[in-house]
Order: sequence, then structure tokens, then C-alpha cells
Amino acid sequence: MSEEKNIEIHETAFVTSTFRAFDEDLSQDSFAKLWQNSNTENWIKEYLEQVSSEEIFTHCLRNRYFLDIVKDLIQNQGIQAVINFGSGFSMYPFLLNENIVHIEIDKPDIVNYKKNQIEEWQEKKIIPKRNIHFIGVDFSKDYKQELFSKIQSIKGNKSTFILIEGVLFFLSRKETNDLFNFFDTIQKNDDYIGSASFQETIKDTKAFQNLLDFFNKKVSKTSESDYQTIENQYYQSKKNYKLIDHQDYFSLSKKYGNNINQSKELILNESFYLLKKS
Ligand SMILES: C[S@@+](CC[C@H](N)C(=O)[O-])C[C@H]1O[C@@H](n2cnc3c(N)ncnc32)[C@H](O)[C@@H]1O
Repeated sequence: MSEEKNIEIHETAFVTSTFRAFDEDLSQDSFAKLWQNSNTENWIKEYLEQVSSEEIFTHCLRNRYFLDIVKDLIQNQGIQAVINFGSGFSMYPFLLNENIVHIEIDKPDIVNYKKNQIEEWQEKKIIPKRNIHFIGVDFSKDYKQELFSKIQSIKGNKSTFILIEGVLFFLSRKETNDLFNFFDTIQKNDDYIGSASFQETIKDTKAFQNLLDFFNKKVSKTSESDYQTIENQYYQSKKNYKLIDHQDYFSLSKKYGNNINQSKELILNESFYLLKKS
């Protein structure tokens, strides 16, 4: 697939990675910049002007939070495998210890494109070698049985951290429930899930209205109900899991010394959750 075509279809994955590259000190992602390209940069310029200029920092802090969480879990809880659902073009494998097994799952054309790029950059020694397995899956299709076998054959009995960030907004509640039930089948006690999602109150903000207007103009006609929001209660009541941490853009800004530039109305404030199977 040509890069042009890929950018049309998967703009959000390129955009997310490019945001992380804009403040490397904050995101701690020194490889995100590899995905930068002029199409995405034009798109981002308009997005920052028309939706919310805070989006660079919300994305950098999301990366920073999950990166620090995984590093800590690897060091202190013996996590051995990271499984990233809807992994897009995120670069965690290269920011983590080389002993970790990575499983990256996304739509087939995204993972194929990423795999080729990664191999090219590894051959040129731009990024280090890592143990990464790419699996192409569409979460709106019937994927469970085949994905279960593939994941089991890769991870065996290893303890896992599952990450799902920047994805649930685009999925239905049924697809989300199916995914979390699936996580339960592949994880064992003391394994973890990191999840990012928006709460319902985001729909009252000017930033969300701006986002809808922007998508309607640029991508396709959508309405409020096309974007999923998730309440804290969803995570608090997950069977077999305990919610052990909950952050958002404001709490992470405090934690990492990030200055907030916009009013609350103009910020797409995302929540970040850490769950432990027990
Ligand atoms: C905004 S990007 C986020 C990527 C990555 N998690 C990150 O934070 O950098 C959303 C990703 O979700 C993936 N995605 C959305 N719907 C999906 C589906 N039904 N099945 C598989 N992947 C999906 C997209 O292909 C895209 O890579």
C-alpha cells in the first residue's frame, strides 16, 4: 500500500504519533518522530487551530503515563509481555527493555504497514531490534478464537500488560465488552490492563463540538452518538479486575509539571485507568 493511501485511511494513528514527537521531553518517546510526514503535519496544523491546541500535550502525557506504568510493572511486578490492542504507530517496544515480548494488534493494513516500516528502520539501524509479533484483526469482526490461539502460542504462560489507548472512542459498547471479556480469557491473576477513554461530560465541551465539526468536514459525517464515552463505573465494576489507578490530563499535568494553556472547555480531557486481575 502506498503511503498516500495509508495516510488517508489511518490518519488518526499518524496524528497520535506526531503529537508525541512535538514534545519529546514530555512524552519520552524519541522514536515517534519517525512517522512524521507532510500530509499529517498539514492535517495537524488545522486540527490544533480548529479543535484544541492542547492536544499535543494530552497525547504526550498519555504516552508518558503508560510508558512509566509499564516500566514500573516490568521492574517491580515481573511483567514479561505487552499486548497492545489498536497499537497504531506507537513505539513502546523500542522504549522498553529488550527482553519484553510485544504483541501488536490492529487492522491488517495498519500492522502490515507498520511491520514493513519497522523492519526497514531496523535494517538501517535507526531503531533497535525487538521481539515484536504483529497480528492483523478487526475488532468489529469475529476474531476471538483465532486471536486467542495466536496470542497463547506467543505468550505462553508469561505475565501480561494489555494496553488499549485511543481506540475505545471509535468502538461500540458491545465491541468494548467483547474485548474486555477477551482480555479476561487471555490473562491470569496479577496481570494488568491500561485503558484510555473519555467520560460522557466531554460531550458538553466546546472542544468536543469542534472535534465533531472537524471530522464532519474532513473525514465523514458523524454525530455525537458515533463516539463512545465510558464512565468510571465501567472500570470500577469489571468482573475479575480491580481498578488500581485513575488519572486524567489535569492530574497528570500536576504529576509531570505540565503547564495547562487552555480553559477546561477547550480541552479534550481523557481518563486513564489501570486495572489488575485478581
Ligand atoms: C487514534 S489511533 C491510536 C493508536 C495507538 N493506540 C496510539 O495510541 O498511538 C486508533 C487505532 O485504533 C485502531 N482501530 C480502530 N478501530 C479498530 C477496529 N475495529 N479493529 C482494530 N483496530 C481498530 C486504528 O486502526 C488505529 O490504529
